[in-house]
Amino acid sequence: MCGIVGYIGFREAYPIIIKGLKRLEYRGYDSAGLILFDGSDLKLSKTKGKVSDLEDISKEITLNGNIGMGHTRWATHGVPNDVNSHPHLSNSGNLAIIHNGIIENYAPLKKELIKRGYIFHSDTDTEVLVNLIEEVQKKDNLKLGKAVQVALNQVVGAYAICVFDKKNPDEIIVARLGSPLAIGVGENEFFIASDASPFIEYTSNAIYLEDEEMAVVGLNKPLKIRKIKDDSLVDPYVQELKMNLEQIEKGGYDHFMLKEIFEQPSVIKDTYRGRLHANLGLIQMAGVEDNLEKFLNAERIVIVACGTSWHAGLVAEYIIEEFARISVEVEYASEFRYRNPIINKNDVVIAISQSGETADTLAAIKLAKEKGAFVFGVCNVVGSSISRETHAGAYTHAGPEIGVASTKAFTTQITVLAMIALRLAKAKGTLTNSDFHRYLQELELIPDKVAEALGTNDKAKEIATIFKDAPNCLYLGRGYNFPVALEGALKLKEISYIHAEGYPAAEMKHGPIALIDEHMPVVVIAPKQGHYDKVVSNIQEIKSRSGKIIAVVTKGDTQVRELADYVIEIPDTSDALSPLLTTIPLQLLSYHIAVMRGCNVDQPRNLAKSVTVE
Ligand code: G6P
Repeated sequence: MCGIVGYIGFREAYPIIIKGLKRLEYRGYDSAGLILFDGSDLKLSKTKGKVSDLEDISKEITLNGNIGMGHTRWATHGVPNDVNSHPHLSNSGNLAIIHNGIIENYAPLKKELIKRGYIFHSDTDTEVLVNLIEEVQKKDNLKLGKAVQVALNQVVGAYAICVFDKKNPDEIIVARLGSPLAIGVGENEFFIASDASPFIEYTSNAIYLEDEEMAVVGLNKPLKIRKIKDDSLVDPYVQELKMNLEQIEKGGYDHFMLKEIFEQPSVIKDTYRGRLHANLGLIQMAGVEDNLEKFLNAERIVIVACGTSWHAGLVAEYIIEEFARISVEVEYASEFRYRNPIINKNDVVIAISQSGETADTLAAIKLAKEKGAFVFGVCNVVGSSISRETHAGAYTHAGPEIGVASTKAFTTQITVLAMIALRLAKAKGTLTNSDFHRYLQELELIPDKVAEALGTNDKAKEIATIFKDAPNCLYLGRGYNFPVALEGALKLKEISYIHAEGYPAAEMKHGPIALIDEHMPVVVIAPKQGHYDKVVSNIQEIKSRSGKIIAVVTKGDTQVRELADYVIEIPDTSDALSPLLTTIPLQLLSYHIAVMRGCNVDQPRNLAKSVTVE
């Protein structure tokens, strides 16, 4: 995690860095800092807290200069305090560094440096790295770029770094392994950032460094990218960015999360645009089409993901098995990578990731590739590491998701995965023609139905007022809506800090039922399609133990309405696609509860959006 920003050029660096850090704050917000070279010396400002705190303390200092860099931190080594904040300086005070990642062998390196007389002020691994670079530079009298390269070859871990030397203030050295790093290429200026959002108003040309690459980014010299290991030169590939400014601003909403919830009708449409042709009875996805045989010959599909993406994977398991009759397993990427899983050449592994940068998912992909599997990525961020690491894939086209709690990424991931399932079903003949066409039409109607489901906003707010102080909450669902129950509980706990659990409704009697009393709110997902009667029985079981029932039902429902304390109505759709609708009121409910509890909805405590550490 952590966000990094750098600038070198002719503009004032300070406002670019501050604005850039604000856009990258989704990556971590334990502390923030920046450093500039003002023509004669380095000017450092850093603090525990958010970028706005950094701005406040920076008012006291004159921060001018055309070269600089900044950092927003998600703490790994060392508690979040002023001293542990980045940038860090080397002992001589000449070198400054910002770092996103973890140096795993920092302890022996630190010991060695202490023996050589180095003094450490912070508890961070990053301060070790900058002093290691200084030591290498001094010992062999190397240029900064070379010293960084030699030092990085001694390091075990993950990093995206920017380093500069106040004695040579016309270049910034950047390098990456495992953490993302983009270089915005302007006219006589360069921008460096964890993603392209800090520089989209300045340039639409970007270079994404690959793992184990480094570059010397300097004025009046060609940009050179080299392999860190063997020093070989790599041709820079300049990509044109498709992002625009409006996509990364709040657009009148109080929070990014709410904006992103309300974007779902349009982004789901973007997801299937050009791919779903209901009138022609066609699904066309290049990544699937080009590799159709691999999918069709797959003995099984293994889905790897984390967090909300893992929940989308669970929904996909149900859809793919039902539609295409291919066996599917869903694994937490973090477990998969460390448990020596059995993967065969005929397995297809689908990696789902909004950011495309999650370290555990990336490691799971590498493992699956080593074992010979075909790996397909479902990512949102174009050009992200996972999209580049996989053999093929399909983007979700949800646009930047900035709220840390994932919303539109979830529904667009399900949309992509449902389209894949339908395409495979068509090829295998596992759905009747009429069912296939019906599902395509249903999917095409989903954006309008999501828009209608968003009409439950006021109802969700009203229910939030009643339950905002509950210490616990249960979420129950069956079949396709069991993963929605998990996702609903995750949304509530991550942004409102209320303890919440999701369960398959029928499992309630094997434990959670003991928790139910008149103080326990139970959210039950009970759409008309699916296992309605069974869910009704579960609701009765809750009611007879005085639990407070909040039910998500299909419009016009009467049976659950009689039993539940509160109902939220959503439009009707097929069972398999219902998660795209049932999840909407749950997102809204969590959002309003978190707002009413005074929580920081877009940046919940201890979390980060892009988890580039394992
Ligand atoms: C973090 C985020 C979640 C996300 C998960 C997986 O925990 O806060 O919202 O679901 O990472 O991220 P990915 O980018 O791989 O989908």
